[in-house]
Amino acid sequence: MRFNRIKMTLMAASVVFAAAAVALYGPAPETAAAQGAIVTLYKSKCASCHGVDGKANTAKGRESKTRDFHAEEVKKMSEAQMLQVTLKGKNKMPGFEKQLGADKCKELVAYIRETFK
Ligand code: HEC
Repeated sequence: MRFNRIKMTLMAASVVFAAAAVALYGPAPETAAAQGAIVTLYKSKCASCHGVDGKANTAKGRESKTRDFHAEEVKKMSEAQMLQVTLKGKNKMPGFEKQLGADKCKELVAYIRETFK
């Protein structure tokens, strides 16, 4: 009987713990960590022109005539078109395929699409 109570307490505690973990880190901790890495990558490689808020309201953004990611022209672009620009570059936008690899570029485009809309 006493044993069962301890077992119940442990079970309840682990449920609370799991719920807290989900509340803190979202459904899958690995996903949250990957998302964090992409945010860091965006901030270090892209935000100097595109801005942390995607509005390109930075010195380099203005100088290179970078568009706001929220602009209609960007919204009309497909993910494939955005990926192409990220991989190969366009006008003042440098290509990142060699430096970051295609997979990271894809993740960055997905992040941009999801974050700035
Ligand atoms: C030196 C400034 C600069 C940096 C750094 C930069 N971009 Fe850009 N980016 C631009 C400019 C300028 C354009 C517009 C190109 C055009 O169409 O003339 C652009 C366009 C884009 C587009 C196409 C949509 C749009 O707004 O026209 C995507 C997607 C994009 N950049 C992603 C990225 C990603 C991802 C990074 C970081 C890995 C990055 N950029 C870093 C300047 C920059």
